[in-house]
Amino acid sequence: MMPWKGLINHYREYLPVSDKTPVVTLYEGHTPLVPAEPLNKITGLQVFLKYEGLNPTGSFKDRGMTVAISRAKEKGARVVMCASTGNTAASAAAYAACGGLKCVVLIPNGNIALGKLAQAMIHKAQVIAIDGNFDDALNVAKDITANYPVELVNSLNPFRIEGQKTAAFEICDFLGDAPQFHAIPVGNAGNITAYWKGYKEYKEAGRSQTLPKMLGFQAAGAAPIVHKRVIAKPETIATAIRIGNPASWKTAEQARDESQGLIDLVTDEEILQAYHLLAEESGVFVEPASAASVAGIIKLAKAGYFKGHAEGRLVCTLTGHGLKDPQTAMKDLPKPVVVKADRQAILKLIGI
Ligand code: F0G
Repeated sequence: MMPWKGLINHYREYLPVSDKTPVVTLYEGHTPLVPAEPLNKITGLQVFLKYEGLNPTGSFKDRGMTVAISRAKEKGARVVMCASTGNTAASAAAYAACGGLKCVVLIPNGNIALGKLAQAMIHKAQVIAIDGNFDDALNVAKDITANYPVELVNSLNPFRIEGQKTAAFEICDFLGDAPQFHAIPVGNAGNITAYWKGYKEYKEAGRSQTLPKMLGFQAAGAAPIVHKRVIAKPETIATAIRIGNPASWKTAEQARDESQGLIDLVTDEEILQAYHLLAEESGVFVEPASAASVAGIIKLAKAGYFKGHAEGRLVCTLTGHGLKDPQTAMKDLPKPVVVKADRQAILKLIGI
């Protein structure tokens, strides 16, 4: 087997690149599909976790960023910009560093996870905190990039969606076909759009035979698509998907409708339960937003949605690594007990 050299090299024929495109890559993609026994029991299906936290910067954003930054570089851009709840910023900062471009990131002040901020800063992106939320930051990023020589690398940039669709290719390559269901968190709605595009293109190319039902999940306090209206002040513990007016709203609805799937909401409590279940029973550490997809399938299973699909395959995208947000992980958990390096004291603590 050829060594993995990033998704542009692997899926070149399906991507908008040519021999002239300078490939800016950190060898992203090729993430594992981990079987999830505890979720099989709950859903009656065969559940696989597409662990996107194992990408170079710890989230699925790297798939889109390798294409967007490569094309920006090909075009001769010097500066890229994004608005971000954190992961896009981390990814843009890393790929811009790798490609020798300047990166400016606009983040909602006070509402991004610590690890993501650290990533943007260490890669020397210019980090600007906006007195407002993600939607406000995206509006100003769109305005600046439309009027000045700065490339927008949010998922409004079509190259981002092109790169992200490769996750669907990998799933089909791994399973031999598309799964019956695909569950995914929805924030700005680029990723559900990208997966659906990927599944359709792979089927058209004869590389897979079927299409999945797309199951998207928003956080209850940030569920504009479910409520069919813009949410002016979105709120959720899952800061990555704290978005009230998704850029890819229409294409997310298309993915839902064409696939005969659904977009539903999950509460912060359900998200945190799924977050801990994954960590404690599957050994998989994700950030809260990623757990929305798992919370969603648990909710659907309880409502009987999967009845009649016993043993069918379901893939859940786990969008970002748990280390991104150590503060949420440690909140409400007891601090380690401090004792002397003494055998008896330790045996007593562990009950032996
Ligand atoms: N999960 C994580 C961990 C994310 O960072 C995001 C989006 C999503 C899910 C939702 O994906 O926007 O394509 O529907 N994060 C963006 C950012 C908004 O700025 O990092 P989506």
